Amino acid sequence: MEIPEQQIKLKNGKTVVIKSVKAVDAELMLQHLQISHRESYKNMNQSAEFWLNFPIEDEKRILGEFEGARNKFMLSVWFEGKIVGGLGLVGHGAEFVKHNASLGMSIQNAFCNSGLGTELMKMAIKLAKEIGWHRIDLKVRTYNTGGIKLYEKSGFERIGLLKDAAFIDGKYVDEYSYQLILK
Ligand SMILES: CC(C)(COP(=O)(O)OP(=O)(O)OC[C@H]1O[C@@H](n2cnc3c(N)ncnc32)[C@H](O)[C@@H]1OP(=O)(O)O)[C@@H](O)C(=O)NCCC(=O)NCCS
Repeated sequence: MEIPEQQIKLKNGKTVVIKSVKAVDAELMLQHLQISHRESYKNMNQSAEFWLNFPIEDEKRILGEFEGARNKFMLSVWFEGKIVGGLGLVGHGAEFVKHNASLGMSIQNAFCNSGLGTELMKMAIKLAKEIGWHRIDLKVRTYNTGGIKLYEKSGFERIGLLKDAAFIDGKYVDEYSYQLILK
């Protein structure tokens, strides 16, 4: 899905551009995923090594699928020619649940706590309404105070605790499940 690009001035004084990703952005997207996962792997589902070894052709194919799709989109955040953040919303495919979409996002440390997460969420929720989804869900580790703050501020409600949902550095960790009903 093609999303018109938008310039945002952040609280840290930097101006970033938010736009949909394209297959040609695969190399820069992989660089972003390596950096954000090295910095924040405890909040994510993969290690930085996973992205370091991820084939560029596979990334091009995945981003190409986002480009052409009507039931998913990926926003990328650009600063000085590099990707520094991203947010993906993926619609559920099956007939009875196709009004649902699941959300994931990652921002590099240098751009955290600058209002970028809030802006990305606002854009994503507006787009989700335009697409016609009724419900967004996401999961966040119970220790991710920044994520929890952002999601609750954006209107998400906590609906449950997922015990031992991830296994990181030799330990099981819990996640919260959140939802937002779009009106
Ligand atoms: C979680 C994340 C998306 C939040 O985005 P962000 O750009 O930092 O969010 P914002 O700057 O818009 O901040 C939103 C609110 O959370 C607060 N906040 C941000 N980081 C915080 C932290 N570590 N602890 C407590 N509050 C925090 C901000 O102060 C702000 O509150 P306010 O509106 O009252 O001022 C971002 O930090 C990130 O990508 N982290 C690494 C990867 C990750 O955790 N991804 C999510 C996996 S579920």
